[in-house]
Amino acid sequence: MSGFDQTHDETCLGSEAGRKRRVHVHSYGCQMNAYDSQRMADLLVPEGYSECTDAQDADLVILNTCHIREHAAEKVFSELGRLRALKERRAATGADLTIVVAGCVAQAEGEEIFRRQKAVDVIIGPQAYHRLPELLRKAGSGHRAADTEFPEEDKFDHLVAPRPARIRARGVGAFVTVQEGCDKFCSFCVVPYTRGAEVSRPVAAIVAEVERLACAGVREVTLLGQNVNAYHGTAERGGTASLAALCARLAKVEGIVRIRYTTSHPNDMTADLVAAHRDQPALMPYLHLPVQSGSDGVLAAMNRKHRRADYLDLVADIRRARNDIALSSDFIVGFPGETEEDFTDTLDLVETIGFASSFSFKYSPRPGTPGAELPHQVADDVKAVRLARLQACLERQRQAFNHATVGRTLDVLFEKKGRHDGQIAGKSPYLQAVQVDAGQELIGEVRPVEIVAAGPNSLFGRLARGAGGGAPPR
Ligand code: 5AD
Ligand code: SF4
Repeated sequence: MSGFDQTHDETCLGSEAGRKRRVHVHSYGCQMNAYDSQRMADLLVPEGYSECTDAQDADLVILNTCHIREHAAEKVFSELGRLRALKERRAATGADLTIVVAGCVAQAEGEEIFRRQKAVDVIIGPQAYHRLPELLRKAGSGHRAADTEFPEEDKFDHLVAPRPARIRARGVGAFVTVQEGCDKFCSFCVVPYTRGAEVSRPVAAIVAEVERLACAGVREVTLLGQNVNAYHGTAERGGTASLAALCARLAKVEGIVRIRYTTSHPNDMTADLVAAHRDQPALMPYLHLPVQSGSDGVLAAMNRKHRRADYLDLVADIRRARNDIALSSDFIVGFPGETEEDFTDTLDLVETIGFASSFSFKYSPRPGTPGAELPHQVADDVKAVRLARLQACLERQRQAFNHATVGRTLDVLFEKKGRHDGQIAGKSPYLQAVQVDAGQELIGEVRPVEIVAAGPNSLFGRLARGAGGGAPPR
């Protein structure tokens, strides 16, 4: 099967007592988790569930968890403590609450979660979530149920296509997973263990999903993968398609005006993908390209398999292809063995490149990864000071990037109502939030906007002259 399953099971889970049951999905971590959360909610619609935004109103709560750093995993256990109390209050009134732990904590900790938190009914890993209705049935008959397998079947073949109204409610931008898993084994990272080996979806399945989204009003797709630029899916006419070829194909889908992709590894930034940033107008000039560290010694210890100079050369190539491209990165400070000099190399790389926005973290040793076993772990107070210094520098660059757009006219894709009445909000090509005084009829359209001011988190602009009416520019 090339797309999502349109059929569903005849035994409805969510309407047993004649009353529609409600599900609340709480998504932690990355955008792929957000995508998976939507797919889980979609799977439950034919089962008779409707979605709600507050766990207090729900009959079923799914925590779609993140295991990337210790802090992320611990947040899940404190939330489970709160849900346990809610479940006990419900039980006192004869009502129930089903609790599901999904995602990477479920994958990494498995049935250990049952031991740590008795209130949990179902544990389901990221590769098995298409089996959620089946597991809920098992749990409904009084047995706790767990599935953290990497099944033979492809979960994407078993998902449910969301109805157009649900797509519309989610807005004009949508995420689409095109690649999953990772074979890189960076020594700090749990992803190869929790998400498994690298797999790419076939082009035809992605095109079908994007066509459905576009028909329901989506204008911008962000292609997701833990290593998205390693994408090598089966092409429509056989053979293998690269990410650049996939983007070119998706740009032909009627209604799709913008394409983004995340997250990329520098070693998979192939020449055709760099050229696509020059040649494909739909590909937005924003690239998240994590470098993690600016020190060759740390990069080697992280098993990144590239050097600082490779990254600098790559950025120079990309800028030759598209000189206005906005770059963003992830950084880890305090990796085992990182010296003050190594850290200064990172600051120096940041100054040399100039990032439009970035994410930065203290190294968090993850059980089962090689980094956690390394000698010379860095003390937490040292990590904290380095993180603060790095973040100050990255924040300065972010503000400078935003201020440099003041006075320019940028195409903005309008997405939703703005912060104040009479305002609408959208995104610039560089992924900046832009607020404009204009009517809601422009939501879903791209218009040139003159940027007049930059606040800490948004730009402010006015519709450029001649920007009213007409079809969105393609
Ligand atoms: N400690 C700190 N940060 C981490 N990341 C991944 N694993 C760890 C870890 N163990 C960061 C990396 C990655 C981002 C998604 O999370 O910077 O690119
Ligand atoms: Fe983790 Fe990304 Fe490295 Fe893969 S490439 S191991 S997902 S940091």
